[in-house]
Amino acid sequence: MRRPALTQFLIERQRAGRINADLRLLIETIARACKAISTRVNKGPLGGGYGSAGTENVQGEMQKNLDVLSNEILLEANEWGGNLAALVSEEMDDPRPTPTNYPRGEYLLLFDPLDGSSNIDVNISVGTIFSVLRCPKGASQADEKVFLQPGRRQVAAGFAVYGPTTLLVITVGDGTYGFTLDRETFTFVLTQEKILIPEDTAEFAINTSNMRRWEPPVKRYIDECLAGTEGPRGKDFNMRWVASMVADVYRVLSRGGIFMYPRDSKNKEGRLRLMYEANPMAFIVEQAGGAATDGRTPILDLQPQKLHQRVAVVLGSRNEVERVTSYHA
Ligand code: F6P
Ligand code: MN
Repeated sequence: MRRPALTQFLIERQRAGRINADLRLLIETIARACKAISTRVNKGPLGGGYGSAGTENVQGEMQKNLDVLSNEILLEANEWGGNLAALVSEEMDDPRPTPTNYPRGEYLLLFDPLDGSSNIDVNISVGTIFSVLRCPKGASQADEKVFLQPGRRQVAAGFAVYGPTTLLVITVGDGTYGFTLDRETFTFVLTQEKILIPEDTAEFAINTSNMRRWEPPVKRYIDECLAGTEGPRGKDFNMRWVASMVADVYRVLSRGGIFMYPRDSKNKEGRLRLMYEANPMAFIVEQAGGAATDGRTPILDLQPQKLHQRVAVVLGSRNEVERVTSYHA
């Protein structure tokens, strides 16, 4: 069986009227940047990307060299295509409108250039997450306001995982698809058609070092999982925690599971960023038949107030996410 490459996959989506040529070009550009980032990540300590950049981002987190480099690769790749009105990333304080010497396009791009930074120097999977919105018609300025749209309005989202293999997962709203980077032809090849997350699972992912700070519904849910066959759930659960959201979510997409980064008494709003972590992942997970909530409201229905806002995240196998939601009710 011949597997289509990302380009063919996108052309077919364009022919079906699902995306236009500009959005196709945008996704191709992001994929090309991800390949470049993958190469740099793969070089490890030989590529000069290890270690701290000695600077802080807008969230007050120390930037790694590879965070800065990945951000630059994505900025450079997306500046001149003519399909963007503006872009913003985890590593940028403010949105950057398309430079005036290039045509201004209709889309807005948000990204986390290198998710899972704490894992870079120890050779554990990291990745890139992105979200695409439409710039509201008639907006004279591509400032923060134009970005503050609920995740439900995303027209595309995806993430790359730089692991033992480099993977790209994308959705344009007609299912979630997985691609693997073929290192010989340097193309992304379709390897997972219409991903479907099993509705039930016996695997959870959460940073249990925060347990003492959790709210009661989350504590109850995890306690019941840990009680195993002797507890109210009547079955044993397994735990996995990579501490790279991209890798944890990819596992959930591949074999089911529930991933949680709840709010707690230290991270009162939650830890993950709504606009370039939670929203794209929620879109991808919903398109794969799973669910994503902040405990009370589907992530995709939240109205963002700030570009770099944080949010509680519970996502994955539908029945487990619904159970956690019911404990919050
Ligand atoms: O971007 C935030 C992030 O790196 C996620 O990839 C990951 O899920 C989380 O932080 C890990 O946080 P912690 O340090 O609590 O394990
Ligand atoms: Mn991140």
